[in-house]
Amino acid sequence: MNLPQDRADFVVVSNRLPVDRTDDDDDPWRHSPGGLVTALEPVMRAADGAWVGWPGRAGLDLPPFTFDGMSLVPVRLSEDDIAEYYEGFSNDTIWPLYHDVIAAPTYHRAWWDAYVKVNRRFAEATADVAAHGATVWVQDYQLQLVPRLLRELRPDVLIGYFHHIPFPAYGIYSQLPWRRQVIDGLLGADVIGFQRVADAGNFARAVRRLFGYETKAGSITVPEGDGVRRAVAKAYPISIDGAQYEELARRPEIQARAREIRESLGNPRAILLGVDRLDYTKGIRHRLKAYGELLDEGRLDSEDVTLIQVASPSRERVAAYMQLRDEIELMVGRINGDFDTVGHSAVRYLHHSYPRDEMVALYLAADVMLVTALRDGMNLVAKEYVASRIDGRGALVLSEFAGAADELTQAVRVNPHDIEGVKDAIVAAVEMSDAEQRRRMRALRRRVRVNDVAGWSRRFLADLEAMRGSR
Ligand code: G6P
Repeated sequence: MNLPQDRADFVVVSNRLPVDRTDDDDDPWRHSPGGLVTALEPVMRAADGAWVGWPGRAGLDLPPFTFDGMSLVPVRLSEDDIAEYYEGFSNDTIWPLYHDVIAAPTYHRAWWDAYVKVNRRFAEATADVAAHGATVWVQDYQLQLVPRLLRELRPDVLIGYFHHIPFPAYGIYSQLPWRRQVIDGLLGADVIGFQRVADAGNFARAVRRLFGYETKAGSITVPEGDGVRRAVAKAYPISIDGAQYEELARRPEIQARAREIRESLGNPRAILLGVDRLDYTKGIRHRLKAYGELLDEGRLDSEDVTLIQVASPSRERVAAYMQLRDEIELMVGRINGDFDTVGHSAVRYLHHSYPRDEMVALYLAADVMLVTALRDGMNLVAKEYVASRIDGRGALVLSEFAGAADELTQAVRVNPHDIEGVKDAIVAAVEMSDAEQRRRMRALRRRVRVNDVAGWSRRFLADLEAMRGSR
């Protein structure tokens, strides 16, 4: 194959680029939302590769460009693509299905057709920028067909795929009318990575049930041409750049900002914090219900505590998200109506996203971090809180349904569906002694240090490179 010299040896492909286009010509780019971009940005900065993705706006046709030291290759999505491939199939079919049908998935044949079409567009854009024998790393559920499509276009490249969200049990997965095509798409990769061991197990079971291929200890025998090849399906729990959060947490101006936040809230005895995209998987309603009842029952004194809930806007044109926003804002309004005084707020609800500096100040200001997801691939917010607590203080309440619970075993563990249990966990966290906070935080911080995002990508890419020989 004769390819020009300026193609990349390492290519990341994800639905979103790390930056979204804004309306502001003076400040045209802002950080994209979500854990995927947070995790991959430091990896991309360290590698000299290209990042293929959507620039976050309809109809934008941009040539490749460099931003903040990264080479970005934009893929155009039209209004219809956004409605059918992104909001439709990705976020109203796959997202609810893979999060254990917390919301009902919608199955539309036209959305599937759009998903196939856009996945092909991403595969073609990737095939155009990848150098001969390049390593290509495809990311997440929006692009599950890209590994197979890319392998057909470019059999010379090494293909990894990482799935950032849960992979459901077969009894749920089997609802998908296109269940065979999606598994076949993923099996185009040499290594298929998941957040948890349970996700990799669910995937292997789906492969056996639908195709009858042999799967053994994370290795899958896939027919190819007249012969067979091997694909790996394994867990690689994702993480964060912990050192970066520590560094921010040490900055005097960020510590001053944390003190200012506490003061502005009247220096309450306890500040509780929730930080989520406004998504029904995050258990925000369950959290508010538990908190409201604790205030009602007087187990928490409304003069003494404040809950800061950052709910960053997300997928705002999808009906389930609009409804969730209404429900949450109604609940917040009720709690505040009942418990606010002129000088004090029971819930500080912030429907915004904030830059990393402000997030670290919030983490430092919060005595208790609440992560009550009903289902979550990993939840990097839990890890960001731990990494920011250089003072060794603070308590983390963590749902057992978040992938992070497999690693962060020293958190106060909750089943978010058990409202009484969540209430007890919140009270235990608020009342936790200083010594107990330090003991738990020490162990939590050790875990985040041992598995940081650089280690995550190193482990994945080492397994991927090892496949070169066996292709
Ligand atoms: C999660 C997904 C990502 C996604 C992010 C933000 O973290 O795993 O793939 O990018 O949410 O969602 P959005 O739909 O705004 O890209």
